[in-house]
Amino acid sequence: MTTVTTDKDAATRSKGLEGVIAAQTGISYIDGVNGRLSYRGIDINELAERSSFEETTALLWYGKLPKKSQLERFNEKFVNNRLIPNEVIAILLGLPKHTSPMGMLRTAVSALAPYDPETGDNSLDANVNKSIRLTASMPTVIAAWERIRNGLWPVTPSTEMGHAANFLYMLTGKEPSPEAARAMDIALILHADHGLNASTFAARITASTLSNLHSSIVSAIGTLKGPLHGGANEQVMRMLLEVGDVDRVEQYMRGALASKKKIMGFGHRVYKADDPRAMWLQKLSQEMATSTGKTRWYDISESIRKIMQETRSLPVNVDFYSASVYYSMGIPIDMFTPIFAISRVSGWTAHVYEQYSDNRLIRPESEYVGALNVPYTSLEDRT
Ligand SMILES: CC(C)(COP(=O)(O)OP(=O)(O)OC[C@H]1O[C@@H](n2cnc3c(N)ncnc32)[C@H](O)[C@@H]1OP(=O)(O)O)[C@@H](O)C(=O)NCCC(=O)NCCS
Repeated sequence: MTTVTTDKDAATRSKGLEGVIAAQTGISYIDGVNGRLSYRGIDINELAERSSFEETTALLWYGKLPKKSQLERFNEKFVNNRLIPNEVIAILLGLPKHTSPMGMLRTAVSALAPYDPETGDNSLDANVNKSIRLTASMPTVIAAWERIRNGLWPVTPSTEMGHAANFLYMLTGKEPSPEAARAMDIALILHADHGLNASTFAARITASTLSNLHSSIVSAIGTLKGPLHGGANEQVMRMLLEVGDVDRVEQYMRGALASKKKIMGFGHRVYKADDPRAMWLQKLSQEMATSTGKTRWYDISESIRKIMQETRSLPVNVDFYSASVYYSMGIPIDMFTPIFAISRVSGWTAHVYEQYSDNRLIRPESEYVGALNVPYTSLEDRT
């Protein structure tokens, strides 16, 4: 038996596709060296300061900020599409209570597909309609699951509140404070799109086969779930809890770094400077700590970051401070990644339209490093 490698040019190989440009996009731009991000050319700082998640979504989908009347109509469509079919609630009721919220979300988005009147229509108009229904209803699905797994009946969506406030309302059954609603809105704006990140790439790969929009989003949800991607925000919070006290940070970090453990919330494939989204979330985390007087998670985060700055040249990323922000809002840890998903769905869907608009099947090659010319052995002769 011989082991051979194919004679692919080394220059075409890239583990993890690092440095490979696999698509052109006009949706978001990351300047990793200077730590800058823009959506459709507008700096993320301006959007976090002045926009809403709904308006940012319109920007991503239509390419420019909506006029006042367009935004009003857009907001109205969001509100009118918040309800999910009873049949999908019935599916959630049938799931084991230990199902992870991301696993549940993947199942629920699949289940929503046949109830969408335009599920198999791949025209741009139909895809925008489907995106509105999906983006409007994903928070309802997640909040419903939180209620169901705790033996409570889902809260009917509000027809008055904005997207972020309504999500918090459905999750807790209580109207959120304006500060909490705005913090969630900013978090949703910040997470809405981010170049060709792994889940967006997964969505585009699925779209490139001319599969439908719901299938693309299901692929993306499964990809976001992993701890190296969207799942990192949950891992950050588990680390903060494990550390437990700011006095224990140094000892924890010494042990973690010595054992080459990855510190969640740090490092990035594209950013060499700190992630601009993290700076916003740091501010929110600090504001929450100050306003509630509960500074423990913010203090531990700051201490970890200081040690990372002193010992590693790794940028802080979006997941680091979002953990303490969501935890301070009383949100269960396993709901952190679903919050990422209810925001990122706006970017995923924008990328799906972009992929369809100039499609070519995404199909890289692998370098075969296995055996060749292996004879088939009969069942009785195998050892
Ligand atoms: C984001 C991430 C997956 C990028 O991965 P990548 O570009 O493939 O980079 P690598 O994992 O190959 O890391 C390169 C080097 O930096 C180190 N490194 C990267 N992230 C690290 C982290 N968070 N903590 C400690 N070391 C880290 C790696 O161990 C590796 O070191 P080595 O060259 O000595 O082996 C990676 O930084 C990571 O795992 N971060 C933690 C998870 C996270 O926060 N994910 C959310 C991203 S928004």
